[in-house]
Amino acid sequence: MKITGTKKMITSGILAISVIGLIGMNGCAESKKISDKSGAQLWSENCQRCHNTPAPKTFNDEHWKTIGMHMQTRAQLTNNERDKIVDFLQSFNHL
Ligand code: HEC
Repeated sequence: MKITGTKKMITSGILAISVIGLIGMNGCAESKKISDKSGAQLWSENCQRCHNTPAPKTFNDEHWKTIGMHMQTRAQLTNNERDKIVDFLQSFNHL
């Protein structure tokens, strides 16, 4: 009896976790797909939508960081996507 009860609790616990996991995965399915992309790809797909982006060397590392934070909200990027784009743009200052 006792064992069955514990088993039930574990089973429903696992079920609850899987349901939360599924909802979570569904909720960010799109951004997960995007986050597999490189900074260069994310930049070309997200940053020329509203304006032509200036050449990466136009701004220094600090400026790109600030611009990244401003444009993250405009382009609706995740932190991970923003970081990849900023890294990509900053890399031109270190060639
Ligand atoms: C939804 C539209 C939109 C998207 C998407 C967008 N921007 Fe912008 N961006 C703007 C607007 C509007 C301005 C001018 C006003 C401002 O600076 O906030 C601007 C200005 C800029 C500037 C000039 C800033 C300055 O100080 O001269 C840079 C550089 C820039 N964006 C880079 C980017 C990058 C990189 C991305 C991609 C991560 C991006 N933008 C995505 C709308 C957008």
